[in-house]
Amino acid sequence: MIKPIQSFEEYTATYASSISDPEAYWASQADQFVWKKKWTKTLEWNFTEPSVKWFLNGKLNITENILDRHLKVSPDKVALYWEANNPDEQGKAISYKELYEQVCLFAGVLRSKGIKKGDRVCIYMPMIPELTIAVLACARIGAIHSVIFAGFSASAVADRVNDAQAVAVITSDGSYRGTKSIGVKSLIDEALQTCASVKTVVVAKRTGDAVEMLSGRDYWWEEEIKKATPVYEAEEMDAEDPLFILYTSGSTGKPKGVVHSIGGYMVYTAFSFANVFQYKEGDIYFCTADIGWITGHSYLVYGPLLQGATQIMFEGVPTFPDAGRFWNIIDKYKVTHFYTAPTAIRSLMSFGNEVVEKYSLKSLKVLGSVGEPINEEAWHWYNEFIGKKNCPIVDTWWQTETGGILISPLAGITPLIPSYATLPLPGVQPVLVDANGMVLEGNNVEGNLCMKFPWPSIIRTTYGDHERCKQTYFSTYPNLYFTGDGCKRDENGYYRIIGRVDDVINVSGHRFGTAEIENAINEQADVIESAIVGYPHEIKGQGIYAYVICDKTDKSEDQLRKEILESVVKMIGPIAKPDKIQIVPGLPKTRSGKIMRRILRKIAEGELNSLGDTSTLLDPGVVEEIKKGAL
Ligand code: PRX
Repeated sequence: MIKPIQSFEEYTATYASSISDPEAYWASQADQFVWKKKWTKTLEWNFTEPSVKWFLNGKLNITENILDRHLKVSPDKVALYWEANNPDEQGKAISYKELYEQVCLFAGVLRSKGIKKGDRVCIYMPMIPELTIAVLACARIGAIHSVIFAGFSASAVADRVNDAQAVAVITSDGSYRGTKSIGVKSLIDEALQTCASVKTVVVAKRTGDAVEMLSGRDYWWEEEIKKATPVYEAEEMDAEDPLFILYTSGSTGKPKGVVHSIGGYMVYTAFSFANVFQYKEGDIYFCTADIGWITGHSYLVYGPLLQGATQIMFEGVPTFPDAGRFWNIIDKYKVTHFYTAPTAIRSLMSFGNEVVEKYSLKSLKVLGSVGEPINEEAWHWYNEFIGKKNCPIVDTWWQTETGGILISPLAGITPLIPSYATLPLPGVQPVLVDANGMVLEGNNVEGNLCMKFPWPSIIRTTYGDHERCKQTYFSTYPNLYFTGDGCKRDENGYYRIIGRVDDVINVSGHRFGTAEIENAINEQADVIESAIVGYPHEIKGQGIYAYVICDKTDKSEDQLRKEILESVVKMIGPIAKPDKIQIVPGLPKTRSGKIMRRILRKIAEGELNSLGDTSTLLDPGVVEEIKKGAL
């Protein structure tokens, strides 16, 4: 188990030694785990191909470090408290021993369906314990899991399943979210109409609603585990074998499959969980993220369970039955660590303090924030009304591609500054560069955030397309990993993330490429062309503003907007719906045909009088037209 840093002095000394000899540092961390065979070389890397390998020739199974290891010392300790969507429904407490048994059993189900090491398995499920079990069962037999957030549409699911060439899908009959019950299996049925690679579908029962089961392909979870032979002998995996694929959006239209490998991801998620959160024996940790996103992978499944933590898994939404639900859960389970997103904080803040004041929240020790910059107002509210000025707030900066938290305070150990991610974790070497790639030395500088040295859980490739990984992250600046974020280093060397500098919009902590949403809008039959920009949104951080050119039609603008929204829901899902749609006669383009997004952003922000130079536009008149119709 990773032993966290205990003081600021220790952080400073550890940071210095981790940079002067990274290999020795990470080898000492990796030594804290169970390996079937120890690695022969700690690191081999170059950022040009790119190729990064950690713990070469090391053999292990990550689930032995999560299950078998803790089984020996604390079998009855609760791994997961599961809280149902409806507070009146009985929750579950699952011990490490029970989790071990369930994972081994479900691993047996996967094997009985012929699924083997290296096969891809897509998981599309609500937040029920079977989701964690399915993820770990894949890891137990060496299958590569690809969890797809259960809010994505059938079309988005099909794209991901096909890209991964998955042989199986694990899902549920339905799901509960707030007052709604949603058909999950029917969506999978629709998606799989275009997915020839999938031979097996396993369906866990949640709602009990009637679903269609295709004979020879579809099986009930509950029936299969009765017949299964448990996999007690975990598959021997190489440290560099892929653990999972997680699809994420970038500046191009098609989401890419970020690949993480087993050894480095294991070491880094446990290491960062232990150090950032300073979780101690007996603490109760609650991360509100969905496992469909990277936060759920690293800090709901792997990090906490590797460290033998007890945590909450919550099925529902923060506003059901009312906006006090998170606070209710905190009091009910005496939660000590609470990790959520700024968008949730802002949204709950808007319901007023009376909601919070009904709860004691006195068990809390550490608060966390992730997914987008946290504005100062939300930071202070979180500090005052949730933490009662008694809990450090760890503003954790990281990405799907980084696998784990790279820049963040260590709770109670390193200083806090509202809206700053503050300092890099040991072994993490951030640099800021200007637009020409010149490294900005010293303090009080602002530029594009890059990393100059690999950490163990860095992205290894984008599934099936290594060139794309190279182009996206390693080509903008030679020999650097480029994050896509702008960042400031203040006069004392503390980091403040400013936001994306590429065509990525961060809506409620979820990433979308502008091209991805434009493609979905363009599917509506009357649309000729569209352009998407982000604009500041009080709750979501960024809202989506769509400028759309349509063909001549008898349809009203309202009708067009409705159909455009339907198209986005169909192609991606409700989470990507634009907040504003303006039908425009044209788009501001340069003579070479490039859309001037800078101008569109200004209009979306309501800054109509500071559009800057428009003289290079092909048709400057179009800007006046857009301004007139601005929403
Ligand atoms: O822009 C940064 C923002 O979220 C992006 C990564 O998104 P994703 O891969 O979906 O992962 C989200 C959860 C780790 C980053 O490039 N971001 C994430 N955390 C922060 C943040 N921006 C500011 N402060 C943060 N703490």
